[in-house]
Amino acid sequence: MIEQINQTANYLRTRVADMPRIAIILGTGLGGLRNHIENQEIIPYTEIPNFPVSTVEGHSGNLIFGTLGGKRVIAMQGRFHYYEGYDMKQVTFPVRVFKALGVETLFVSNAAGGMNKEFQVGSIMTITDHINLFPENPLRGKNYNELGPRFPAMTEAYSHRLIKLADEIAESKDINLMHGVYVGTPGPTFETPAEYEYFRIIGGDAVGMSTVPEVIVANHASMEVYGISVITDLGGKDITEVPSHEEVQLAAQKAEPKMVELIEGMIEKL
Ligand code: HPA
Repeated sequence: MIEQINQTANYLRTRVADMPRIAIILGTGLGGLRNHIENQEIIPYTEIPNFPVSTVEGHSGNLIFGTLGGKRVIAMQGRFHYYEGYDMKQVTFPVRVFKALGVETLFVSNAAGGMNKEFQVGSIMTITDHINLFPENPLRGKNYNELGPRFPAMTEAYSHRLIKLADEIAESKDINLMHGVYVGTPGPTFETPAEYEYFRIIGGDAVGMSTVPEVIVANHASMEVYGISVITDLGGKDITEVPSHEEVQLAAQKAEPKMVELIEGMIEKL
């Protein structure tokens, strides 16, 4: 694994001169951020050694290097989901590579179903913590001490400093930013009403099918993490609307300008 990470990092160093310290995983809802990145150098995943290739509709696969909010960034356009059949090591491989390249701060975004009764479709939520319900932890197996500790703490998986910064930016831009706990599930089914209810009762505010693996690995690698969800549908025992992929995409698109403004504002202040 170490050899693969180094091989990929070395390849990217031959393609890009000025390596960023900030990486962004553009999930559903943040794809439009890429239009704000200046001086783009686009590297398709297909050209990157050892990189998996994204398959899902609405997720194209490129690494985009450039400048955002005055800072150098790497953006992942398209991520690898567990439900696509990738194993946890593949899902989190790009985060390992980012660390090898010197990245210190990771921004992640996703679309999620809302269980919190104060949420509406289109709400945006700072992820303050998560509950890992994936059937496997990405750190299962041999631990490489040079990558991180065997038993990493997850006490501050989402940086309190960045959560505070997000609140400040949101307030200054009049953006209504919620806080909540993200429940990560393998998917690809959306939840039954009883499952949404269950996730709410155990402390979740939103549920989705990504993010948790990457955040675990980023913490293992002692990166600072900020996560954000756009609430694209609501779930619970009294809610009968049926979520669909199209509806999720549409709701995410609507919330996108707010998310973009927030993330760009945060990066400016980093
Ligand atoms: N459940 C799981 N994943 C999701 C949802 C949901 O309701 N909405 C968007 N991603």
